[in-house]
Amino acid sequence: MRKKIVAGNWKMNKTSTSAVTELASAIVQAELPESVTVVLHPPALWLERVAAIIKERINLGAQNVHPKVEGAFTGEISATMLKAAGVSYCIVGHSERRQYFAESDAFVATKIADLLAVGITPIVCCGESLTIRENNTYLAFVEEQIKACLMGFTATELAKIVIAYEPIWAIGTGKTATPQQAQEMHAHIRLILEHLAGKDIAAQVPLLYGGSCKPDNAKELFALPDVDGGLIGGAALQASDFVQLIHSF
Ligand code: 13P
Repeated sequence: MRKKIVAGNWKMNKTSTSAVTELASAIVQAELPESVTVVLHPPALWLERVAAIIKERINLGAQNVHPKVEGAFTGEISATMLKAAGVSYCIVGHSERRQYFAESDAFVATKIADLLAVGITPIVCCGESLTIRENNTYLAFVEEQIKACLMGFTATELAKIVIAYEPIWAIGTGKTATPQQAQEMHAHIRLILEHLAGKDIAAQVPLLYGGSCKPDNAKELFALPDVDGGLIGGAALQASDFVQLIHSF
């Protein structure tokens, strides 16, 4: 059985300790189904504060990592540091980092290696722009992205990752992928994984959907055969919405 995961990517939101405490406390106090793995990805500055609130029931996630252990990399945080702060999941390859910080697939691959080395689960993001969707080349585009990020890893390593399909045209736009669009891509990603790591491992890697996933569309997305949960942006900033999403399986 694959893990069901709902991960909340807070991005650069929640600007005060009181706002952070309020959101994390409301989520941890809610009744949450045992069968769902819940992850919170606050901004790095708030990791330890959130860790102290959520304790064991909820997992702590980071939004970024630098693929060096330590050294002269001003402003960066290493996987070893994240591990020490209690982080167990980390987002890599998010389209916002690719767009605003020019992060390449090769750079994403080095981050994955470093996270795996310290025992943090990478949530590897992929997804096409609207132009690529409209050109009908989206399956080949995402395949390229995934292969470029994951080609160098062994099957045992690939068994330890999570993939999030986040079409760029759906992020923060209110325009969600239809169930058909999501299932088509997720099935394709599982096939790519099959080629990289074999059928058994491909069958156990959780594939998350992200992009305007909300309480009113999550149920039909999470019910799809190859969708194992969501990577949530906007709706993760309201405890009631996020808790509803966790109950959407
Ligand atoms: P939204 O849910 O706000 O569309 O963001 C999705 C996302 O980018 C999560 O990483």
